[in-house]
Amino acid sequence: MSIIYDKEKQVFRLDTRNTTYQFRVAEFGFLEHLYYGRRIPDTAEYLPVRIRHGFEANPHEAEKDRTISLDLIEQEYPGFGVSDFKVAAVSVINGDGSNCIDLRYVSHRIMEGKYSLNGMPSLREQDGFWKTLEVLLRDPYTDMEVTLVYGVLEEHDIITRCARIRNMGKGTVYVNAAHSACISFPTDQMDMISFYGSWGHERCPERTPVRHGKITVDSVRGISSHYQNPSTVLCAPGATEDSGDCWGIALVYSGNFAITVEVNDFKQTRLVAGVNPETLYWELETGGVFETPEAVMTYSALGLTGMSHNFHRAVKYHLIPKQFIDQRCPVLINNWEATMIDFDEEMLVDIAGKAKELGVEMFVMDDGWFGRRTDEYRGLGDWQCNLDKLPSGIPGFARRIHEKGLKFGIWIEPEMVNEDSRLYEEHPDWCIRIPGRKPTRQRYQLILDFSRDEVVDQVFEQLYEEFKDAGIDYIKWDMNRSMTDRFSAALPARRQGELCHRYVLGLYRLMDKLTRAFPGVRFEGCSGGGGRFDMGVLYYMPQIWCSDDTDAMERILIQYGTSMIYPPFVMGAHVSECPNQQTGRTVSIDTRAALAYFGTFGYELDLNLLSEEEQEAVRKQVRYYKDHGLVCAHGDHYRLTDPEKEREYTAFMSVSADKKAAVVAYVQRVSGANKGIIYIKLKGLEEQSLYEIPELGLRCSGAALMYAGLPMPVIKADNEARVFTLCAG
Ligand code: DGJ
Repeated sequence: MSIIYDKEKQVFRLDTRNTTYQFRVAEFGFLEHLYYGRRIPDTAEYLPVRIRHGFEANPHEAEKDRTISLDLIEQEYPGFGVSDFKVAAVSVINGDGSNCIDLRYVSHRIMEGKYSLNGMPSLREQDGFWKTLEVLLRDPYTDMEVTLVYGVLEEHDIITRCARIRNMGKGTVYVNAAHSACISFPTDQMDMISFYGSWGHERCPERTPVRHGKITVDSVRGISSHYQNPSTVLCAPGATEDSGDCWGIALVYSGNFAITVEVNDFKQTRLVAGVNPETLYWELETGGVFETPEAVMTYSALGLTGMSHNFHRAVKYHLIPKQFIDQRCPVLINNWEATMIDFDEEMLVDIAGKAKELGVEMFVMDDGWFGRRTDEYRGLGDWQCNLDKLPSGIPGFARRIHEKGLKFGIWIEPEMVNEDSRLYEEHPDWCIRIPGRKPTRQRYQLILDFSRDEVVDQVFEQLYEEFKDAGIDYIKWDMNRSMTDRFSAALPARRQGELCHRYVLGLYRLMDKLTRAFPGVRFEGCSGGGGRFDMGVLYYMPQIWCSDDTDAMERILIQYGTSMIYPPFVMGAHVSECPNQQTGRTVSIDTRAALAYFGTFGYELDLNLLSEEEQEAVRKQVRYYKDHGLVCAHGDHYRLTDPEKEREYTAFMSVSADKKAAVVAYVQRVSGANKGIIYIKLKGLEEQSLYEIPELGLRCSGAALMYAGLPMPVIKADNEARVFTLCAG
């Protein structure tokens, strides 16, 4: 049984294969968190200790007992405004204007299977042994109710959470904070790892000790953003890749989020994660419900690698659409860096032709094929083919690509509109802007108001009409701006604080409609590179373009940071031209491929412009990915070095599920005269198996490779990668 309620002790225990999560009904019905960590057989009601301390606030029912205080009772889902002064999980403005919610246990139920959310993505039940726990809490004065919902996936050490906030009282209430989860720890000996960045520098890991006060990572840009990822790790200060307690949390959400970690003077650490309260003000009439997005939590005693593997398996088996599990993305050529918007049909056919010759499997036409799109200033919103550029139209052009034996993919940016477009001329009030104010532009475009069903439906109709007979195999879904001037012409003043979350719900509705209308199509998420790299998007799309920075040396850190939470097979990664368009750096085509192998792999350049020698290299690379891509991208991934600490070289590897095959990438970042030999200790192999490594002419046991290591070749160049293929005989 993975969920048990101990009636006598009033303790809930949620057990997975290696973890235990516990909370209980404490004095006066407060729900008190007890423990989350390595699996234990006991119930942990002995852990909280009631003592008196100075300046405490006591619940009324405690009368003269001053040991009962919410300063020390770590609530499972703390409400704002009573006497819990740390960051709240939920806050409401009641009908009388008071800002207070005091939640007490009412009842619970334990169910087989996994709950689902209304209009929002969440981990899927598919082929998994899930259990659900619902705990109903109520504020006895206002009849505000919160149902805490927990999903337990025993086999992958995953616990999911969300909350349903229901107004069962008489007057209208406004919700101004509604987190998905709250977790507490009775220690301040913790490091926090979050993932910061910007355009071209997404998901750089940053590890700092937690400290008194609050640390918040968040987004107010309308998308989860390049700047902070909606995921965070807490770990023991000594935790490494291979050992130590690590807790990870990731939101299945693509909009404004916030994750706050707070430490108080009693050495308690609290984490809350959910929709960003800064941009949330949600009206709840009597009977109304606000449902939070899902938070996915995991714990591993086996360090960061163990934690990452739990997340990676959850993403593979319970998040991405089922039909793409362990299905390698076709090796693709994308024309963006080759032509930008400025292309015509024959140029594209030329690029596709050469790609086919070199073994590539799919041609993807990027931005520029629709409406008045002759430059970045116009056309968005009109999803009809620009026949001046593509006289064959989309079905005709797709046919030409298919006739070459290639699959066909296409780019869209459905959430956007340019003022110079037919859509804007017909519906100027369909975009997000404040009436009477000139709107902020980004890339000269505005965001469509997806909080409105008619806007979502119209965009769907356009795309459906254009694509329904075209035999499209792949769609790249881009999103190129931050949300500003937040105002919807369809919402009354008091409900403008609902726009950001309603936008995300509208976005998910369109993603749902389009992916259902084209179930065979592989979608790729994108937002100016990796500006919306989150579990919300991955529910609909099996991959996301990792970054517009395609420089292999920069990709080392981007892909390393991304891999903490997300598996390599969801990371869009391409070989692009050199000098690199973003950094001006030139590295060999094999080094570029070595990084891209550990992602979806493809090309983003004009293959016609490559030398004979480079073309031959491409041929070999495509063959290599066809043979080993499933291991590189879909295997168990191991980070062998920390690229920020070890700047001389970097190594990482992936191992197939049966441990019979592995691929190791080694990148010498800085060369030097008269250097010693570098030994890399591999991971995840079968000790007893003998592995052939043809590139090195070696045959060694897994034990030797893991415990004695593998000598790396001497390379007389900076930024040079080598890839080693391991095959167990
Ligand atoms: C941003 C994306 O990240 C690029 O790959 C490309 O699709 C451009 N947008 C097109 O406008």
